[in-house]
Amino acid sequence: MLKLDFHPAGRHFLQIPGPSPVPDRILRAMSCPTIDHRGPEFGALGLKVLEGIKKIFKTQQPVVIYPASGTGAWEAALSNTLSPGDHVLMYETGHFATLWKKMADNLGLKPEFLGLPGIEGWRRGVQPQMIEARLREDTQHAIKAVCVVHNETSTGVTSDIAAVRRAIDAAGHPALLLVDTISGLACADYRHDEWGVDVTVSGSQKGLMLPPGISFNAVSQKAIEAGKHAKLPRAFWDWAEIIEMNKSGYWPYTPNTNLLYGLSEALDMILGEGLDNVFARHDRLAEACRRAVRAWGLEIQCVDPSVYSPVLTGVMMPEGIDADAVRKVIYERFDMSLGTGLGKMKGRMFRIGHLGDCNDLTLMATLAGVEMGLQLAGVPIAASGLPAAMEFLMSQPNAPKLKAAA
Ligand SMILES: Cc1ncc(COP(=O)(O)O)c(C=O)c1O
Repeated sequence: MLKLDFHPAGRHFLQIPGPSPVPDRILRAMSCPTIDHRGPEFGALGLKVLEGIKKIFKTQQPVVIYPASGTGAWEAALSNTLSPGDHVLMYETGHFATLWKKMADNLGLKPEFLGLPGIEGWRRGVQPQMIEARLREDTQHAIKAVCVVHNETSTGVTSDIAAVRRAIDAAGHPALLLVDTISGLACADYRHDEWGVDVTVSGSQKGLMLPPGISFNAVSQKAIEAGKHAKLPRAFWDWAEIIEMNKSGYWPYTPNTNLLYGLSEALDMILGEGLDNVFARHDRLAEACRRAVRAWGLEIQCVDPSVYSPVLTGVMMPEGIDADAVRKVIYERFDMSLGTGLGKMKGRMFRIGHLGDCNDLTLMATLAGVEMGLQLAGVPIAASGLPAAMEFLMSQPNAPKLKAAA
């Protein structure tokens, strides 16, 4: 029997913390014909995106672009800098830090997981003093790298990377600093060079507003030097040949041509708006979201306001309520996807994404959908959260560009 496709009216609300909605302008750019990746036109595109992306990472050093998801770029960061059996200090901020540690184990490294007990560590950012204390103990410098996640997508908690750098320096330790800002890049301020990061890992499908499929390693000279002696097996991920060929705008393999068109467009959009404006927009929407959550009388997963994420807000459910059941109601009734609780937080929380191509009304519609869903799912709320969010948005000036156009 013929099955008719059902197409719900309006756009699906993709309010997970990545992949984030892809703006029409980027979708159109990606629909250009795929060109010869060894031809003359391609080199110009390659050079443009390789130069432009450096501005987003705030680096003068090479940024390697892989046709892979963020997980691939994690592996690239480890395999280009480390050798089998190397000790690595990792910090448990949440589910993604846990997955990166699992990868380190699988690659034959010896990761040590620092963190606070239970879910406490999942509610606060990295504690740099713990890193400093551990590195001071390591007088033989057995630890070769410190790995931290800048924006823990599973919790909505950020970490102070400059403070981690200071902790490593205070301990006088030569370990490399590897940072995952897969969901932080182009949402929260990030300074690869100034913070002395050796490898920064990121991906396309979050603040850059692209579909999943490309990921990045921004590298330091120290990391490139370490790569010359690193013995973990690597072939596809090896930076050396890619960085060499990138000098002329090409790759040693077939790059992701249409996603690179998208990246070129995303760079124009983000740099056109101005990075500081992009960060301010994210901070403002995140604050409005938190005000709604507080008015509902629900708990925010992050307990330290100094490290609230501008990318997403983790909303804890009262005892006895399954967060995934609430998400299901919201999905079925209002055609909106929210992030599920991951790992230790499975069923205990959901995540509201407010990153990338998101504005005041996107957020207000999202909050309305969440509020209706909470009520339909029988979650007790203290009051409507919408007035709190609206009042905050009205009280705060809009982005300068919009003001100028008015
Ligand atoms: C912080 C963080 N690290 C790593 C990953 C893994 O990236 P991917 O799923 O693109 O492989 C994600 C994905 O959401 C993430 O948010």
